[in-house]
Amino acid sequence: MRKKIVAGNWKMNTTLQEGVGLAKDVNEALKGVTPQCDVIIAVPFTHLAPIADVIDQQKLGLGAENCADHAKGAYTGEVSAAMVASTGATYVILGHSERRQYYGETSATLRDKVALALENRLTPIFCIGEVLEERENGTYLDVVKTQIEEGLFNLSADDFSKIILAYEPVWAIGTGKTATDDQAEEMHAYIRKVIAEKYGQEVADNTSILYGGSCKPSNAKALFAKPNVDGGLIGGASLDAQSFMGIVTAF
Ligand code: PGA
Repeated sequence: MRKKIVAGNWKMNTTLQEGVGLAKDVNEALKGVTPQCDVIIAVPFTHLAPIADVIDQQKLGLGAENCADHAKGAYTGEVSAAMVASTGATYVILGHSERRQYYGETSATLRDKVALALENRLTPIFCIGEVLEERENGTYLDVVKTQIEEGLFNLSADDFSKIILAYEPVWAIGTGKTATDDQAEEMHAYIRKVIAEKYGQEVADNTSILYGGSCKPSNAKALFAKPNVDGGLIGGASLDAQSFMGIVTAF
């Protein structure tokens, strides 16, 4: 059966020293509990190797927030999937709405990134989600279906099975405005149906679909109680060990 997962997305926050401290705090907090889910932190590139050195990756998975769409070479400033993997990290967030919105990432770029991540044995956490206008004009299901089809449906069933999905309505990210648990469940159930139509029910049933967007300790329990919500991708609330653990223990 599919995994339950709580993943932190630190975004562009914390200095190296602050980040190592936060990772240590989360790692320490996990020693005292047996979480009913996998726990992951996705951190800035600069923090990956030093954090890999101080956490127990059996209990706390480590990932990057992005990787390049080329394998190597003359791409100044980019960080490749192989470089990420060489730090000891095993996950990578791809297609976050902030990457799509501010850095022009398209489905075509994302297909390349997913392929490179998989080649380097990184597990992609692939983000999808509609903007407010699409929520309000009723096209949100179609928008998300297209993002999945264009970004991922070139994969074989075997490769698709390695993907974690994160549904993040853009209007809920960092706004304090969470999707209701019913809104999340409607979308997650729909996503699972779209996957089932392409890859069959078994692959769909085994795909973890996380919710992201202003998820916090106070609303995580109700969201995670929904049958198709398999956990969360947590931005703001992952920057404090105690609030992040409050979400981890919502399972
Ligand atoms: P948020 O961000 O929890 O701060 O809304 C979630 C995300 O963007 O992954």
